[in-house]
Amino acid sequence: MNTLQDRRAWITGASSGIGSATARVLSAAGAEVVLSARRADKIEALAREIRSRGGVALVRPLDVTDKAASERIGRELAGAGGIHVLVNNAGVMPLSPVLEDRVEEWEQTIDVNIRVCCTRYGPSSPTWPVGGTGTSST
Ligand SMILES: NC(=O)c1ccc[n+]([C@@H]2O[C@H](COP(=O)([O-])OP(=O)(O)OC[C@H]3O[C@@H](n4cnc5c(N)ncnc54)[C@H](OP(=O)(O)O)[C@@H]3O)[C@@H](O)[C@H]2O)c1
Repeated sequence: MNTLQDRRAWITGASSGIGSATARVLSAAGAEVVLSARRADKIEALAREIRSRGGVALVRPLDVTDKAASERIGRELAGAGGIHVLVNNAGVMPLSPVLEDRVEEWEQTIDVNIRVCCTRYGPSSPTWPVGGTGTSST
């Protein structure tokens, strides 16, 4: 049963792991999926796979730390009926021992895993789902 027919799901971090698996599941349930991640080649390949099974997949390469780019895609999707499900999944998990002083990796982790999730996809943002619902796996 296609329970997500006529629904659009935006998945960040769709180029691998949990994000790409979630995109496949949501597409199989009937949703149109919007695939975002930095590695455009990976999400293009996933989109081809989904389309080969009859699904609808849009590819929107994105670094989620780029606020303007996130909002541009959010506005584009809002203008096309909005999104119904947000899978706010983009994340990094570098092994960064404190003793190695990899401050940039810590900052990136805080930025992608926390700051973006808490500030970028809120109700006042064009990225907020229609009906005010969403899900975040990060
Ligand atoms: N697997 C676990 O056991 C586990 C446990 C706890 C939490 N998590 C969290 O769950 C999420 C997914 O985990 P996973 O195992 O599927 O990891 P993964 O395979 O490494 O996937 C992470 C995804 O995030 C994307 N990403 C990273 N930085 C990004 C950025 N700045 N902008 C856009 N996309 C970005 C990556 O795509 P690009 O590199 O192409 O941008 C990739 O698609 C992560 O947030 C992870 O921290 C996972």
